[in-house]
Parts: sequence; structure tokens; C-alpha cells
Amino acid sequence: MPHITTIANNKGGVGKSHLTVQLAAALARRGLRVLVVDLDPQANTTRRLGIEIDPQNAIVTMSEVIKSGEDGAGESAVLACGWVDSEGQPTPESELIDVLPSRYDLINRESEAAVLGAVRRLRRALTGWIDDYDVVLIDTRPDLGHLVQMAFAAADTILIPTDPAYDSIEAAIRVRDFVERHAVDLVNPDLRVAGVVVTRRKPTAEHDFQIQGIEEQFGDLVWSLKGPVHWPDGGVTVNPAYISEWSRFTEADAAAASLNSYNDRNSRKTVALYDALASRFIDELIRTGARA
Ligand SMILES: Nc1ncnc2c1ncn2[C@@H]1O[C@H](COP(=O)(O)OP(=O)(O)OP(=O)(O)O)[C@@H](O)[C@H]1O
Ligand SMILES: [Mg+2]
Repeated sequence: MPHITTIANNKGGVGKSHLTVQLAAALARRGLRVLVVDLDPQANTTRRLGIEIDPQNAIVTMSEVIKSGEDGAGESAVLACGWVDSEGQPTPESELIDVLPSRYDLINRESEAAVLGAVRRLRRALTGWIDDYDVVLIDTRPDLGHLVQMAFAAADTILIPTDPAYDSIEAAIRVRDFVERHAVDLVNPDLRVAGVVVTRRKPTAEHDFQIQGIEEQFGDLVWSLKGPVHWPDGGVTVNPAYISEWSRFTEADAAAASLNSYNDRNSRKTVALYDALASRFIDELIRTGARA
């Protein structure tokens, strides 16, 4: 069985979708087979993984999967990651990444929270057919509503990305408290926060101050990427500790591309950071078999 991780923060714009997409790519570079579930009606992750949804030519998306409520329903919606090389062939990363895509109308499932058992529908949709994947990553909306609760009910662990800003940190704490309080209500009592990933870090005194706060709040749960991060130039190993605010990250998201598709020094730095993050993920959640 794969390890299932939900990416969540009760704050928008902290890099949840970015982390989902580029961590999937980094895990694929390590040879792992990854299923990405886009459970956000914004569908940013779906687009960034190279999947274009033609409104005139409807395909099965998570909206229909959740609506059906059937065991194994997700299998009918699986698409391959759409990243291709300059010859139009799937890249080595994309060959190991599948996607359960989202569309704006997934929001219609939000109002079904009162239906008996609806919170377990994602878990049921994933039963019986995901054994060949090593990892499932579920991207979520920036709230703690029904769609996010479905993602919590389906997961073994939660990864919380947060930028070093007061409101984002408070929102990360709300996720942790929500899980502690409601894991049993979600019929998933062993659900736990596996890590907090600091994103969008700028070299400012304010960010340093807020990072101290994150470390005080979350302690060892902070995935500080404490090396070794192998930089591309000269084999020097340094310790960048956190994911920086770099325009290359935004560029890759806009272009719906893997960081690995750029062949320059900046890109190799971004890839090195995500490779370090993937190593941490594998060490903590895959090698130790830390399933719930
Ligand atoms: N480390 C980073 N450096 C620079 N830009 C970043 C970084 N991480 C994310 N971004 C950019 O910030 C914006 C918000 O990121 P993203 O969409 O991943 O956040 P999100 O948490 O998924 O937002 P939402 O809550 O709306 O789903 C995007 O334009 C993304 O490209
Ligand atoms: Mg998002």
C-alpha cells in the first residue's frame, strides 16, 4: 500500500499546490510511483501537472468520483501527468506520476457534508486499485471544510507548508489542533501531522523571527532540510534549511513545468532543494514504513 499524505494549511497562497507538484516530481526522480489527487476546485495542481481540461469535452474528474460514492471510483478518473519533453514525449518524471484531476465544479460536493458517510468518500474512492503506487499526495483548499476533511479522512499523514508569516503560522496551528481534536470523528484516529515545511522564505529579519516562532510551535516536526543539500556547483554541500522565495518556482508553476525541465544553475538549485525534501519524505514516511 502507498503512503497517503494530505498537503494542508488553513491559509491560501502558502505553496500547498506548488509543494504537491514539485514534491511529486522529486519523488518520481527517486523512482517512486506517485498518484496526485487534486481536491481543490481551483484545480491549480491539475493544470500545473500539464493537464488541460476542455470544458466542451468533459472528462471524469474528482467531482464525479466523489459524487458517485462508490468503492474504487477514483480509478475511472486517472490521467497521466502531461509533462512532455521537446519532442513531445512524456518526461521520465511524468511517466511515474498519475493524477486524479479537479475542475471548478468540485465545489458542488462541499454541500454534501451532511450526507451520511460523505466524509469517507475519498477514502472509499481510493480503495482497491492504488497498491501499485508508492505515494499518494492530496492537495487541498485553504480551509477546514468538507473537502479538506475528506482528504484528512483518507490520509495516513499531513504535511503542512507555511510561509514565515504570522497568519500562515496561526493557520498551520489550526490544522494541527483540528487533527488532534477531530481525527476520531473522521474515523481516522491515527492521522497525524508528519511535518511542517517552511516555504517562500526571504532573507529578512522578520522572516527569521517568524521562523523562530514556527520552530517553537512545531519543534522536531519542522522539516528544516538539515542537509546535506548537494548544490550543483563544485560539489559543495551547504545547508539552506528552508524553501526560499525564488522566482523560478513561480515561473515553473506558471509554465506548468517541472523544475527539472530548466537547464540552468537556478533550476539546479531549486531541484536540489526539492531533492532534499524528497529524501526527508522517504526517510520519514517510506523507509520507516510510518503508516498509520
Ligand atoms: N517558494 C516560492 N517562491 C516563489 N513563489 C512561490 C513559492 N512557492 C509558491 N510560490 C508561488 O506563490 C503562489 C501561490 O502558491 P500556490 O498556488 O502553490 O499556493 P497554495 O497554498 O496552493 O494556494 P491556494 O491556497 O490558493 O491553493 C503561486 O504563484 C506560486 O507559484
Ligand atoms: Mg493550491
